[in-house]
Amino acid sequence: MASTILNAPCTVPSVKGFDTQNYSGLRPTSSLRFNSGRTSFSGRSQHLFVVKASERHEGHVKKVDMSIEECEAAVVAGNAPEAPPVPPKPAAPVGTPVIQPLQLSRRPRRNRRSPALRASFQETSISPANFVYPLFIHEGQEDTPIGAMPGCYRLGWRHGLVEEVAKARDVGVNSIVLFPKVPDALKSPTGDEAYNDNGLVPRAIRLLKDKFPDLVIYTDVALDPYSSDGHDGIVREDGVIMNDETVHQLCKQAVSQARAGADVVSPSDMMDGRVGAIRAALDAEGFNHVSIMSYTAKYASSFYGPFREALDSNPRFGDKKTYQMNPANYREALIEAHADESEGADILLVKPGLPYLDIIRLLREKSPLPIAAYQVSGEYSMIKAGGVLKMIDEERVMMESLMCLRRAGADIILTYFALQAARCLCGEKR
Ligand code: PBG
Repeated sequence: MASTILNAPCTVPSVKGFDTQNYSGLRPTSSLRFNSGRTSFSGRSQHLFVVKASERHEGHVKKVDMSIEECEAAVVAGNAPEAPPVPPKPAAPVGTPVIQPLQLSRRPRRNRRSPALRASFQETSISPANFVYPLFIHEGQEDTPIGAMPGCYRLGWRHGLVEEVAKARDVGVNSIVLFPKVPDALKSPTGDEAYNDNGLVPRAIRLLKDKFPDLVIYTDVALDPYSSDGHDGIVREDGVIMNDETVHQLCKQAVSQARAGADVVSPSDMMDGRVGAIRAALDAEGFNHVSIMSYTAKYASSFYGPFREALDSNPRFGDKKTYQMNPANYREALIEAHADESEGADILLVKPGLPYLDIIRLLREKSPLPIAAYQVSGEYSMIKAGGVLKMIDEERVMMESLMCLRRAGADIILTYFALQAARCLCGEKR
């Protein structure tokens, strides 16, 4: 009998129990690599392992001096061989009350008794394949630290970016999303730099696709990094964000990103009708293979503060409440989800993450589409700050927060912790 294991092409196929200390994942060993059939399946990216039951007992050849029949006869005759005794009952501390045990038909703690049992019954898993790593890029050659987001940098698109992507791929994170820091001189009220085919984002996409053809590149579709007003859309003189005119620009932006090689364009602007319009624009230009991840339920949240510092993209006036959703609203997320679904979105995103677990669960239950959660800058920075101040255990809180997003129903998670968490899952320490 032979069983076949199909191994994912990334270096980290899956990950062990959540409450084990080091989250060690299944790392390909050198012998697996050797047996992986790469040569016999040349040209294929899947690795095929065949394990034959008959080949499995090398190593424990023991001397046999009694036949099975003799062993059985000895037991039947009452001469069973010795086995270790049942261990004594562990002592309780002095003073423990002596009581009659409660008569309980259910003791849920039975299934939590040992690490092995807990691992068996763990309902949710998390793997580096679930992460999308957001990366900030700029025109500079050096990487500059982002004050409000410890551990995050504006990466030089030619060097730092490529190195960071290589590090992420090493631990199984093969999806990234790009956010550009655009020079002020290129910003304008109509954000036209957003669809410059030779702009920072298209250049970075082309470079990354050249170096890592199988990297999955998500892009952000919104005008804010390119808008002199710092808004996601075009601002009329009375302060109104113009919907349909903005959508026109977003379509050009999405097409330009697709032309550079983006795999998934992600409108984060919350204009009405943008998903359908972008789908039609992509299809008209021959990009029907490019996916749309819609920021379906994006709330007007104060948790975006550090991100806006990172990109210097704070709105010059006012707030984003006429397009982003009111944090008090739940049912409204369904209206957005139905619209995005009918307009052809491939993935629905909820943002922020942890404070909005109910919305993630809502969309998970109401839609068959994959759900993404964005653990935003403020969530990241709070965990980092709590860790630095030694108020919480940064690594454990990080892993727990990501697991909770998965439990709520997120298939993928956009998180600045992607690299750190994936290293943890692989049993690597920084
Ligand atoms: C803008 C955009 C924002 C984020 C992602 N895309 C900020 C905003 O809406 O002001 C926030 C991400 C984060 O805080 O980590 N289109």
